[in-house]
Amino acid sequence: LSAATEVRCSQMPTYACHRRTPLNHHNQTITNALEILARSAFFQESDVRYLGFTRAASTLKALPYKLQSVNQAKDLPWCGGHCMIVIQEILEHGMCREVEVIKNNEHYQTMELLTGIYGVGVRTAQRWFKEGIRNLSDLKTMECKLTAEQVSGLRHCKDLQQQVTLEEAERVGQLVKDTLQRFVPDVHITMTGGFRRGKEVGHDVDFLITHPNENALSGLLEDAVGWLETQGLLLYHHLKKRKPALRSASSSMDSHETCYAIVALPSSSSPWNTDIEVKKCNSEDAERIAHPESPNSLNSRTWKAVRVDLVVTPQAEHAYALLGWTGSKHFERELRRYSLREKKLSLNSHGLYDLEKSCFLPAQTEEEIFLHLGLQYLPPSDRNA
Ligand code: CTP
Ligand code: MN
Ligand code: MN
Ligand code: MN
Repeated sequence: LSAATEVRCSQMPTYACHRRTPLNHHNQTITNALEILARSAFFQESDVRYLGFTRAASTLKALPYKLQSVNQAKDLPWCGGHCMIVIQEILEHGMCREVEVIKNNEHYQTMELLTGIYGVGVRTAQRWFKEGIRNLSDLKTMECKLTAEQVSGLRHCKDLQQQVTLEEAERVGQLVKDTLQRFVPDVHITMTGGFRRGKEVGHDVDFLITHPNENALSGLLEDAVGWLETQGLLLYHHLKKRKPALRSASSSMDSHETCYAIVALPSSSSPWNTDIEVKKCNSEDAERIAHPESPNSLNSRTWKAVRVDLVVTPQAEHAYALLGWTGSKHFERELRRYSLREKKLSLNSHGLYDLEKSCFLPAQTEEEIFLHLGLQYLPPSDRNA
């Protein structure tokens, strides 16, 4: 490759918020391998190794060409010794033995399965693994010990394991809009998360909800939840109230009013007002419809369980919430690390706090936030770090 290409390599910025990271990039095989190593480290609760592999993968996602030799990678930020071995092996053999071993490892496979269930984190999965749990039937025998969230996660896991398509996400959006507009006709709704970054599939659908008049938002999620329940469209929900005390300069905790939900999304062929089946049945019936015993009953399947996050923000925090909920997770982590270390500004999804001047910096748009941070604006499609 040309000398110019080599130069670009050594000029790769170390912060992900300094580079454009498109959804589709040139080194997918290598980043997939590095992300398996990252997840394996995550499952072992090894934060340092998790972050190391995640950063290396993220760097390669921003590389504007396909790596041809390990030499080209030697000046890339975060691509240290271990990662270089992985990169070299893949370039030479098309695969990495360490990664293949991990993929076949019982602990890794079980952790993938268990943490894939809604409501199950690494700690819980780790404990279950130590208790000998290996599959979903093992888990069902101890249903009494599960949280309400995990019971729902388990009940709908077949649906939730399937990716949500953009078409489904848009129908969820329509349902959310129809629901919220019953109570606040001029409510403002934005789809965030992966779909806003241009992804065509996701594990859930994320929405931000706002209104110029904060009073209009009060009680809105309760009303929406109540209505969806009467329609039989809500399979699970957890409402988190806003905790104003947490909106402090140092807190990285998100304290917006939030509804974590599982909705029954009617199939595109069945308008939801005819979905009486779901409306009338209890959760055991729903289970039977969701996972029919006989192929004949497949026809009765008129909906799909979909995870939905609804986040309510006052207008003044909306731009910060939009930036914070658009992701990617690694982009957000990098943005906050950059802000704090390079600018002495503390960023979260409520605002930006200047630690030296001891004041909040208001912003109406994401562009203004990038300006505050001294960063070139990156559209959501370039935040796939
Ligand atoms: N997020 C957050 N607070 C939470 C959960 C998520 O601020 N309690 C942020 C994450 O940091 C991420 C964004 O919201 O930037 C979306 O999170 P998530 O839905 O988990 O990921 P996506 O990027 O949307 O990916 P996917 O398609 O798998 O849903
Ligand atoms: Mn290493
Ligand atoms: Mn999402
Ligand atoms: Mn989400």
